[in-house]
Amino acid sequence: MAAAANTKTWTVLDLLRWTTQHFAERGIDTPRLDAECLLAHALGCDRLRLYVDFEKPVEDAERARFRELVRERGQARVPVALLVGSREFWSMPLAVTRDVLVPRPDTETLVAAALDAFPEREASFAVLDVGTGSGAIALAIARERPKALVVATDLSPAALAVARGNAERLGLADRIRFGEGSLFEPVAAGGERFDLVVSNPPYVAERDAASLAPELGHEPATALFAGPDGTDVLRPLAEQVADFLAPGGRVFVELDPAQAPRVAGWLAEAGLGEITTHRDAAGLVRVVGARRETQTAEAVPSGERME
Ligand SMILES: C[S@@+](CC[C@H](N)C(=O)[O-])C[C@H]1O[C@@H](n2cnc3c(N)ncnc32)[C@H](O)[C@@H]1O
Repeated sequence: MAAAANTKTWTVLDLLRWTTQHFAERGIDTPRLDAECLLAHALGCDRLRLYVDFEKPVEDAERARFRELVRERGQARVPVALLVGSREFWSMPLAVTRDVLVPRPDTETLVAAALDAFPEREASFAVLDVGTGSGAIALAIARERPKALVVATDLSPAALAVARGNAERLGLADRIRFGEGSLFEPVAAGGERFDLVVSNPPYVAERDAASLAPELGHEPATALFAGPDGTDVLRPLAEQVADFLAPGGRVFVELDPAQAPRVAGWLAEAGLGEITTHRDAAGLVRVVGARRETQTAEAVPSGERME
């Protein structure tokens, strides 16, 4: 595309074909989709418009913008979402930057499990999202349950700024409070208890870092990695969450399928019952859930707690 750029008239379709082949040769999984997203972004239109305009010539300035995006995607392996600055999650457009994890479809499994546990749309309940990143989970729940009050926390102030912006753009900011700090720190002082705690914490094992897709190098390490086996955040989360659940409250955490038995064990050891697992679109256990007993822990002898 670069060499012939000055001698040939490039149409939308020419650019899509050339770029799709270029991305495929570079081992990108979804070459045509990526080419369409980037060209639509460079032209300031949506993807459907490209199909209407297949034969339309692309101006030099637009092509220069597109060429730069193609270079970043093909060579530097920057994820498309970071190049275009947004990603759709739970049918909501979310702004994303290099300060946050790009929300993944797998995480919709967690949202679905949490909403199934609170099926009444008009229910009023208190929700805590630990490690909110772009705000994906907190915003999806707030949107689906318009009377829920949500606290969304993160270690990273830069991530919280992105989440706040998303909440404002989606008109949900009045029901979401943001807190900065590790795990339950932001809510510990107030003695708050939640009906629902959700979290997609970092859970990638540091020992796997070398074998990961190059795209992950553009996302924050604190959003991905958690110690040698990936459980440095999951473990304290599972061990402490019971103290922040209201009686009858539920927790759902996203994890690597291989971590599920250990996380279920930590939740049970912390006195939680009704342990459930939830599979993602690939059929893998992606989420573990648990429930605090309806009676207060103090009123129940420990030997009678549900295992
Ligand atoms: C895997 S990302 C998930 C982001 C978002 N919830 C999602 O599902 O797309 C994990 C997030 O947890 C945050 N985080 C990492 N360690 C944390 C900790 N100890 N306490 C609170 N947040 C943490 C990271 O900054 C990051 O935003």
